[in-house]
Amino acid sequence: MSKRIVIEGGKELHGEVAISGAKNAVLKLIAAALLVQDICIIHNVPDLSDVETMVELINCLGAKTKYNKITQTIEIDARNINNCTADYAYVSKMRASFNVLGALLSRCGEAKVALPGGCAIGERRVDFHIKGLQLLGANVNIENGYVIAYAENLIGADISLALPSVGATENIMLASIFADGVTRIQNAAQEPEIIDLANFLNMAGADISGAGTSEIIINGVKKGSLHGIEYSTIPDRIEAASYICALCAVGGEILVKDIIPSHLTFFLNKLQEIGVQIEAIDPYILKVKKDKVLKATNLVTQPYPGFHTDMQAPVMSVLSLADGISIITESLFENRFMQVPELRRMGANIQQENSKAIIKGVEYLTGAEVKASDLRAGASLVIAALAARGTSSISNIHHIDRGYEKLEEKFTLLGANIKRVEINENLSDNQIGNPKVMIL
Ligand code: EPZ
Repeated sequence: MSKRIVIEGGKELHGEVAISGAKNAVLKLIAAALLVQDICIIHNVPDLSDVETMVELINCLGAKTKYNKITQTIEIDARNINNCTADYAYVSKMRASFNVLGALLSRCGEAKVALPGGCAIGERRVDFHIKGLQLLGANVNIENGYVIAYAENLIGADISLALPSVGATENIMLASIFADGVTRIQNAAQEPEIIDLANFLNMAGADISGAGTSEIIINGVKKGSLHGIEYSTIPDRIEAASYICALCAVGGEILVKDIIPSHLTFFLNKLQEIGVQIEAIDPYILKVKKDKVLKATNLVTQPYPGFHTDMQAPVMSVLSLADGISIITESLFENRFMQVPELRRMGANIQQENSKAIIKGVEYLTGAEVKASDLRAGASLVIAALAARGTSSISNIHHIDRGYEKLEEKFTLLGANIKRVEINENLSDNQIGNPKVMIL
């Protein structure tokens, strides 16, 4: 049996959608709670499989957690961390678990964390993380697929990143919280999720300045001095962008609530440029309307504040239906066009030339059976299916569940015809209506 999302496309979207807490922020906040020898309560936690994996991982390290999915709250008691090994079982499932490396090293003086390895979207090396920890005075080796780091005392250092890596910036921040003296991260990632991590740590008693700029300065504070806090995760800008892309592909008018529009500036400007109407209703709500065919455009993915690589696949579905030829250049990951062959199966006209995708807009897409290869590629297929004529069935949806809370529920409220079904793979006819297809 396998689960699928089945969508009958072509229904305009109308109504309101509330955006959940940011996956890529909360996972790092959970890792950061390992530095606090006290109880932290994190609010606005989305109900996602990646969050469950991170909670299981820190439980395994000795933390005690209470994860309430109804109130969207996690209580983390990290007073007794008694294991410094993050097993491959966790890290292979979810790369963000590699973020416990800096936190464990800082808290325990040692850490053994499985190397994440490559993944569907690219090689995704961790050399900047390792170099950064070494510059802080840690002894770091790779043995049997694990990064093993020791440091009796971490010492503040100037660390310049070759690329503004999100994960390396976070790991180095976490490692340097109790280091002696000052750490400066130059060419740091500037993403809103980095600011959220710094805000969380500062509220708990850390001394970090410059988060959100290219230079982050961490003044080491006394080990054990961080105290428990209550903190609310920022909204998920990528989830928000995905709903806005769905509206742009399908048409209609929606209110996107509980967001911070300034986190989406580059993306929103691009959409306005191609003909989408966007209006701020209040500081946390946008009205988005699409009532005509959009114009083609070119874009290049860049580190924040540029066009976000995580929004590239969702936007590709929109541009597949735009008037004219668009070119998307993916500059961050080597293999982030996995949605292209699937979109082609739905009638999109896309040529891929290395890091460029050349998209010739078509009048309509058609429903098809397609497969999600990773989280954002999966989102692009949902968007294309919502716009397509006929029925689509998307498989490998565990990728989508990593990053989109209550996806079917939210789209149903907007008027879409979308269902999660369980299908017996042994049957050739897997259309809804078949008694062996169960609607979940
Ligand atoms: C984070 O991944 C996000 N994941 C990704 O979102 C996002 O696409 C990416 O940042 C870029 O914004 C989480 O936050 C959990 P990077 P991360 O280190 O930290 C190279 C999603 O869909 N690099 O900024 O792994 C790397 O190969 C996910 O939610 C090195 O060469 O990304 C890549 O080309 C997918 N050496 C570039 O830097 C290193 O040591 C950016 O990667 C580290 C990175």
